[in-house]
Amino acid sequence: MPQTLLAETLLGDGRTVSIVEPTSADAAAICDLIREAFGSRATVEPPPPALAETPQKVAAALAEGFGVLAVVDGVPVGVVIVSLDGPMAGIHRVSVRPGYQRQGIASAMVEVAIELLTARGASAVELVAREEFPQVVAWWRRHGFVEVGREGTSLTLARQLPVRLEAPSADDTRAIGRRLAGVLRAGDVIIASGDLGAGKTTLAQGLGAGLAVAGAIISPTFVLSRVHPSTVGGPALVHVDAYRLGSFAELEDLDLEVSLDDSVTFVEWGAGIAEGLAEDYLELDIRRSLDPDDETRWIFLTPIGGRWTASRPELEAL
Ligand SMILES: Nc1ncnc2c1ncn2[C@@H]1O[C@H](COP(=O)(O)OP(=O)(O)OP(=O)(O)O)[C@@H](O)[C@H]1O
Ligand SMILES: [Mg+2]
Repeated sequence: MPQTLLAETLLGDGRTVSIVEPTSADAAAICDLIREAFGSRATVEPPPPALAETPQKVAAALAEGFGVLAVVDGVPVGVVIVSLDGPMAGIHRVSVRPGYQRQGIASAMVEVAIELLTARGASAVELVAREEFPQVVAWWRRHGFVEVGREGTSLTLARQLPVRLEAPSADDTRAIGRRLAGVLRAGDVIIASGDLGAGKTTLAQGLGAGLAVAGAIISPTFVLSRVHPSTVGGPALVHVDAYRLGSFAELEDLDLEVSLDDSVTFVEWGAGIAEGLAEDYLELDIRRSLDPDDETRWIFLTPIGGRWTASRPELEAL
């Protein structure tokens, strides 16, 4: 069975890194790679189980879950093993061959692993990282993982995976917004991302219709923030465009806190800026299809915090 090409990325020297799904035929090479990568780290006690990896165990892990392999010039240089046991998935053995590290290979592999897990319906993913490697822990935190447990110096880090919705047309995106409005209540914050023209404002139009607020929902680009009061005594919709804002401090100048508790706050271009608004928020990312003739949008909803994790089933039913 041939390897399946999942993604490609480039090294600093211009060589292509192919991200593929390996097969059991790759088990021995993957085992060598894991042992080499983990063996090159500083020694820790107790030693990581990765150092006792065998081709048989790798083959079994690939059969039960799946792998993500990075290949340069036909040679494996990075691997991630993913286990999928019910809704909670696990990421294991994140390995990049010495000499290929710090070039985005681990990020590319983890991104692909998370996309595959999302497509296969997993709702959360966890992993174990050693406290002795604070830069590794910091790397996972930058990828959205938070500490959920610890045993000795082994930290369990986890993150929610997005709920993925398909919107073939602009009307479908509006309809998703309208249904999402049914899940919303005062105090909710939605942080939206996606390229220019992805459909963030289109989805906000559906939210506005669902919340029955006054005023046309248009791109607030030149206004930065617009308040749409409810016509039915419900929460207002505060529609914000953070495109021109560089920091949370600039967003704070908009005084969104004043309206936050009584409104639904929807921030376009909010990723990396608006997370300070609330501890719990819904991350919304809209992606276009890779085919330029296809207007389908993929809408990814990631619950952050207890309010949203508890509402995950309602998001899945949208
Ligand atoms: N499936 C779809 N979902 C959403 N919009 C779509 C879809 N198909 C086509 N469109 C069109 O794409 C455009 C999306 O524009 P919109 O203003 O909503 O994007 P945006 O993400 O808010 O962009 P900006 O970052 O510029 O604010 C609209 O013209 C919409 O009609
Ligand atoms: Mg917009």
